[in-house]
Amino acid sequence: MSVVESPRSALALPQIQSLAAGDMAAIDALIRRRLASDVVLINQIADHIVSAGGKRLRPMLVALAGRATGPVGPEHHQLAAIVEFIHTSTLLHDDVVDESDLRRGRSTANALWGNAPSVLVGDFLYSRSFQLMVELDRMDVMRILADTTNRIAEGEVLQLLHVHNPDTDEAAYLRVIERKTAVLFAAGTQLGALASQVDAATQQRLYDYGMNLGYAFQIADDVLDYTADAADLGKNLGDDLAEGKATLPLIHAIRHSDAATAGRLRVIVQEGDATAMPDVLAAIRATGGLEYSQQRARDYADAAERCLDGLPENDALAALRGLARYAVERSH
Ligand code: IPE
Ligand code: IPE
Ligand code: MG
Ligand code: MG
Repeated sequence: MSVVESPRSALALPQIQSLAAGDMAAIDALIRRRLASDVVLINQIADHIVSAGGKRLRPMLVALAGRATGPVGPEHHQLAAIVEFIHTSTLLHDDVVDESDLRRGRSTANALWGNAPSVLVGDFLYSRSFQLMVELDRMDVMRILADTTNRIAEGEVLQLLHVHNPDTDEAAYLRVIERKTAVLFAAGTQLGALASQVDAATQQRLYDYGMNLGYAFQIADDVLDYTADAADLGKNLGDDLAEGKATLPLIHAIRHSDAATAGRLRVIVQEGDATAMPDVLAAIRATGGLEYSQQRARDYADAAERCLDGLPENDALAALRGLARYAVERSH
């Protein structure tokens, strides 16, 4: 007897956006309201990066994980704003560390105001997120977010240790992206479920979904750093190579090129030689590094979707599946 699997439906991005529109409007209003400070420079810099938008993917995940598992209320919106504040503060810090000058289609804060104001306003957003957390007065939420932010900081430092290191392999790369990116996705989806008051097993499913999605998302980001259109991406291409960061496409190329090419790639990583981009891209293409990385990203996205199997079917669940696909198909 053949068993016919019921199709697992996934929504497309426009449908996801319209499903989440009400939540996102509330979250956006909250973010703007809570950005304010009486220090003018804080408002200027925070408004510069926040009003540029961004995909707002993490807060959307909080809301959709909440809707997939129960009713959504103000607590979800507050958690979503917290997660976006944490994300935004890491972007301000990341652009200083990476010496990036384009973000969300605008000059970065460090390019416009300098490194010190960017780092300090990043700290402001970060500590504002803690103020919002304390308002919720929930020790379980604070524990998750304290652990998460601590892991992110570890990820950033771990990544720093690998910069200019041509021996960085796939396992080391995955350890970095788990901490710098995936844990925040996982916390977001877990918190959405937690605020919907579902059982621990369901919270764990949403956590695992977010973790896998986060890996997929960062691998896709690292492919886009080589392949995207800068105007579309809103960030400069080649930033990773320029800072000597070996991400998955290049790790794959070093491993699978002939000895002479691999030797040259290793020197390029050591020197962070952005002028070598044409050679690097050629080596990545010759070894199938982009396809390999895209496949790894798809594997994680598929794993994310599988974490949702068996949960009660609804539109928000289909939206979460859709976001897993979007994470690896996106062009920005
Ligand atoms: C950028 O995240 C940092 C990474 C984890 C790759 P996003 O691509 O979600 O940035 P915005 O918020 O949409 O600008
Ligand atoms: C993501 O890494 C960094 C954070 C999690 C803040 P990237 O350095 O690749 O992010 P982008 O490409 O600058 O957005
Ligand atoms: Mg960066
Ligand atoms: Mg990147």
